[in-house]
Amino acid sequence: MKIVFYGAGNMASAIFIGMIENKVVKPEDIYLTSKSQKEKIKFFQDKLGVNISYDDSELLKNADYVILASKPQSFPDVAKRLRPYLEEATKIISVMAGTQIKTIRRELKSDNPIARLMPNTNAMVQHSVSGISYSENFPDKDELVELMESFGTTVVVEEDAMHNITAATGSGSAFLYYIYEKYAESLMELGFDENEAMFLTTNLVIGAGKMVEDSDLSFSQLRKNITSKRGTTEAGLDALDGEGIKSILMTTLNAAANRSEELSQDD
Ligand SMILES: NC(=O)c1ccc[n+]([C@@H]2O[C@H](COP(=O)([O-])OP(=O)(O)OC[C@H]3O[C@@H](n4cnc5c(N)ncnc54)[C@H](OP(=O)(O)O)[C@@H]3O)[C@@H](O)[C@H]2O)c1
Repeated sequence: MKIVFYGAGNMASAIFIGMIENKVVKPEDIYLTSKSQKEKIKFFQDKLGVNISYDDSELLKNADYVILASKPQSFPDVAKRLRPYLEEATKIISVMAGTQIKTIRRELKSDNPIARLMPNTNAMVQHSVSGISYSENFPDKDELVELMESFGTTVVVEEDAMHNITAATGSGSAFLYYIYEKYAESLMELGFDENEAMFLTTNLVIGAGKMVEDSDLSFSQLRKNITSKRGTTEAGLDALDGEGIKSILMTTLNAAANRSEELSQDD
């Protein structure tokens, strides 16, 4: 199998590292190219044994999959590189937020099978939850799902639902990191020094994550189990509700989903 990544940044590297670590794809089957940061992709070649190249004809010859992993605004340049050498049977997988299948078709001027994938950088620890939608002519969906599940889990959705998946899980990790960041800052305001605040927050997050993973209980039940009537946790939770935590999160998710829609209209 030959898998070519156009773009070797945060998202692409999370994906190919996940694939290699899980031994679903051999390093020598992976080809990387980027725009200009040759040292960075050289690092992946030295560390992982993947191939690197800036020769599009070599990259695209007999490619089974091309992964589009640049920012959406770089896609016209990437498409220019692909157009002359793209072979009919090569399957295109796009991780670009907001870029629609019809736009990819238009820019590539081809009818190649296309799938959109909305992963997240938790792929690095094999815990991405990725949305997938397919063009009508996509063959062998099971093979793609197997590849993509090498770095987490997948959910197949209609293309219209990609905006919500982008908000929920594509951007979702950043929302959670931001909450952890603000939590640590708030601990510093309570009087902890920076190291203590980081230590406490990090271990709290890891412990809570493990509880979620290991227990069959719902989030709500886990919360209730540590909330006693008129206790400290209840006081804190009442304050969170009073500040409108649910509405803050809805505003956050709507903003991200709307931005994904805007990006697709910029097409
Ligand atoms: N980060 C996330 O959590 C996340 C989650 C879901 C989806 N995504 C999507 O993933 C995509 C990449 O995001 P990222 O965070 O990985 O971005 P990034 O770290 O900035 O990486 C972008 C990559 O694209 C390369 N590139 C730019 N122009 C190119 C060209 N003409 N030919 C080949 N490669 C080119 C860049 O090369 P140089 O380094 O040489 O400039 C770089 O390797 C975006 O479309 C984003 O919507 C990201």
